[in-house]
Amino acid sequence: MTLHPSDAFPAAASNRQPPPPAMRVLVTGHLGYLGPAVVGTLTAAGHQATGLDSGLFASCSLEPEPAIGWIRKDIRDVTVEDLRGYDAVIHLAALSNDPLGFLNPDLTHAVNAAATVRLGRLARDAGVPRFLNSSSCSAYGAPDEPWVDESSSPAPVTPYGVSKVAAEGGLSALATDTFCVASLRNATAFGYTSRLRTDLVVNDFVSSAYLTGVIKLNSDGSAWRPLAHAYDIANAFALALVAPSEAINGTIFNVGAEQQNYRVREIAEAVARAVPGATVSMPDRAPADRRSYRVRFGRVHALLPAFHCRLPLDEGIRDLLGNLQRVGFSSTAGLSRIEHLQGLLRDGQVDDTLRFVAPPARASGAEGKTSMAPQAMPPRR
Ligand SMILES: NC(=O)c1ccc[n+]([C@@H]2O[C@H](COP(=O)([O-])OP(=O)(O)OC[C@H]3O[C@@H](n4cnc5c(N)ncnc54)[C@H](O)[C@@H]3O)[C@@H](O)[C@H]2O)c1
Repeated sequence: MTLHPSDAFPAAASNRQPPPPAMRVLVTGHLGYLGPAVVGTLTAAGHQATGLDSGLFASCSLEPEPAIGWIRKDIRDVTVEDLRGYDAVIHLAALSNDPLGFLNPDLTHAVNAAATVRLGRLARDAGVPRFLNSSSCSAYGAPDEPWVDESSSPAPVTPYGVSKVAAEGGLSALATDTFCVASLRNATAFGYTSRLRTDLVVNDFVSSAYLTGVIKLNSDGSAWRPLAHAYDIANAFALALVAPSEAINGTIFNVGAEQQNYRVREIAEAVARAVPGATVSMPDRAPADRRSYRVRFGRVHALLPAFHCRLPLDEGIRDLLGNLQRVGFSSTAGLSRIEHLQGLLRDGQVDDTLRFVAPPARASGAEGKTSMAPQAMPPRR
């Protein structure tokens, strides 16, 4: 199978006939893990993507990427002028994931909730018709029920999860007849993008099995996690971009697949099956992870009928392994968000609000056109 969004994921075309006109889309956080998948999928569907990112992970790419426009800016500093002229904003920028949220809970709230809602308001003021927010199933945290869906009360147990729930609420309140806003509550992402993260459970296990032959659990492995491939999440954004406004306006919906809820130890076993000789190691008296949620995904199918997850776990693992081999993967350095940001803090490159102290060195591109932008397709599956 080839992971080529234009034939694997005919995203925009599958919702309407004839295909909708190309849209100008501002993708915040395009230099993060999901960015290459989202931008690649949009580009393959004929849309024009521009990125907006403060560049915290600008250097963290495993391979060269095609160029798109890059507004190098912190979302806390965005003005209404930055947002004029776009048909939609896909908002990915965030201090993303649970461990990172603990680095500075106040800052996590400031970026993920306050600045996100402000960004939504500015987009509405700028006349942008559609705003799609990347939320997270971390909202469910530690629920009482064995299964959760969008009607379940959020029970976030981390600053990250709390910030995501706050953003959803603030953004939904902005919806009007002319400003369509929706939050996609994504499952835990996995799989290869050129801006790989190894602090996500599947990617962590695969990269560690690949490099060391050992898959190390930090918990007893009993916790449930819903998983979705990065390119399946990207496809959901592409479909939501062209979905009728009346279908999605003001909604929050889970993105993933019911059959892709796994216990962490099952994920470890799946990785062990795919990497010859790899073993699973668990610490003595391993603690249980409080965050455990099994998620239902009925609503996304009702709102975006063309959506389904096309990259199941086993296939995503095989693909990731193939890509690691292809790019000559030899180290996880720079691929854990918290470690990378701690490095920037230690080196004095960013202050404690994660703003760059001096203009960052020009990587292989700076504001304007940049070659740091995401690729249209991962070249191999
Ligand atoms: N990766 C997952 O498993 C997952 C699951 C569910 C939801 N999400 C959500 O999807 C979005 C994208 O996730 P990701 O894994 O690509 O995250 P990421 O951490 O890899 O990338 C986030 C990007 O946002 C940028 N950014 C951070 N703070 C910024 C600021 N103040 N101003 C401008 N740019 C800023 C960073 O530089 C980075 O490029 C996030 O909102 C995340 O919460 C991710």
